[in-house]
Amino acid sequence: MSNTAVLGIDIGGSGIKGAPVDLGRGDFATDRLRIPTPTPSTPQAVAEVVAQVAEHFADQIGDAPIGVTIPAVVTHGRTRSAANIDKSWIDAAAEQIFTERLGRPVHLVNDADAAGMAEVKYGAARDNDGLVMVTTLGTGIGTALIYRGVLVPNTELGHIEIDGHDAETQAAASAKTRLGLKYSEYVPRLQRYYETLERLFSPDLFVVGGGISKEADKFLPKLALKTPIIPAELRNRAGIIGAAWLAADAAGRTDLLS
Ligand code: BGC
Repeated sequence: MSNTAVLGIDIGGSGIKGAPVDLGRGDFATDRLRIPTPTPSTPQAVAEVVAQVAEHFADQIGDAPIGVTIPAVVTHGRTRSAANIDKSWIDAAAEQIFTERLGRPVHLVNDADAAGMAEVKYGAARDNDGLVMVTTLGTGIGTALIYRGVLVPNTELGHIEIDGHDAETQAAASAKTRLGLKYSEYVPRLQRYYETLERLFSPDLFVVGGGISKEADKFLPKLALKTPIIPAELRNRAGIIGAAWLAADAAGRTDLLS
């Protein structure tokens, strides 16, 4: 087990949460810190809060890079989309803004990609060596596609068009709340969504995360799919843990990964 923890930070719509992660165990080394997301949540305003989180844990994280998640497409350190976040993230050099503000390397990743890697490395999919599709049901739908432990980033399958709609507007957990749906009314929407993903990708396993996965027993057993579908295990720790893992991996810090 390594002695140095890697800081993972999860940027969400209401809170920015961070914790040092022990990547040997795949769990928080100490309790997490949560600070409300600023309004407006521009990259610069969020960088200030990310810096506060990093300063809070400075004694525990050595010189390791910091992993940060964002609910957007991220390529080469730039955020390329903003489905449920401030539009100023589109085409922002976000990784550079964070790295400059923190004065240390920051690795920025899509939130669902981070959660997905955490579930594959340490959680519900850790024994699966095939094609795993991790989905998070929240404000939007996040997706991570991982084949034999290797992530294909930014799949954004929450936005596939089904029956003329952007899928997440119909099947995210927020759609259930917005429309006041009972589980008996929400399940057909999930059925339509997961059967479409199954037809397109033939995965070996679906893992379902997001806050609503706490109640997975109320909807997962009702889905009729060929593919096994199971709840995420790491719940709201997955983004932070996966961000830390991806940051250490991207930096080639194999010393931190075991
Ligand atoms: C965004 C994704 C994100 C997902 C979950 C979607 O609306 O486009 O980037 O992963 O929500 O937060």
